[in-house]
Amino acid sequence: MIESGPAEIMLRPVNLVEVVDKAIHALETQAEHAEITLLSEPMDGLCVLADQEQVARVLISLIHNAIKFTPEAGTITIRAEALEADEMIKVTVTDTGPGIPPEDRERIFERFYRGDRSRQSSGTGLGLAIAKHIIKAHSGEIWAEEPDAIPGAQISFTLPAMDA
Ligand SMILES: Nc1ncnc2c1ncn2[C@@H]1O[C@H](COP(=O)(O)OP(=O)(O)OP(=O)(O)O)[C@@H](O)[C@H]1O
Ligand SMILES: [Mg+2]
Repeated sequence: MIESGPAEIMLRPVNLVEVVDKAIHALETQAEHAEITLLSEPMDGLCVLADQEQVARVLISLIHNAIKFTPEAGTITIRAEALEADEMIKVTVTDTGPGIPPEDRERIFERFYRGDRSRQSSGTGLGLAIAKHIIKAHSGEIWAEEPDAIPGAQISFTLPAMDA
């Protein structure tokens, strides 16, 4: 998919809360088994110009990682906010797991890159590379940032805002 060039996307107005709920629904059983709480903060009418399927894919990839790396009794929180000038919407997925070391925060978006601590967990290291490909096709950015609370991982991405 990545090698075939820019992702093919169908841009439509998308209600963020709908795609977030869809992603949460896809993973709630898995989260329950892992005894992890999945939360989303109110997204009061935020709307993006995006390909709903592809954005769901990005969210599922981020939440799936968060479930995989967060120990029992942890929490995963999804937030969204409009950025300056209201031109972009920022979506953030935060977990209460061990976090991503600062020196890994850029490399995790490379194909096949997996952190040292991830050797025992399943995966190929493609989830975040695909997520980046999709977000880039929307003219957005995706990055790992210093979490609000330590320990924990925090990944954010932006998408073009759509006037509701
Ligand atoms: N929430 C997180 N907490 C801690 N480390 C993370 C988290 N998300 C990603 N990482 C680190 O980034 C690496 C790359 O993530 P990515 O989703 O691309 O690959 P993967 O999950 O290992 O495999 P795949 O997604 O292909 O199943 C992970 O192996 C892990 O080291
Ligand atoms: Mg992954």
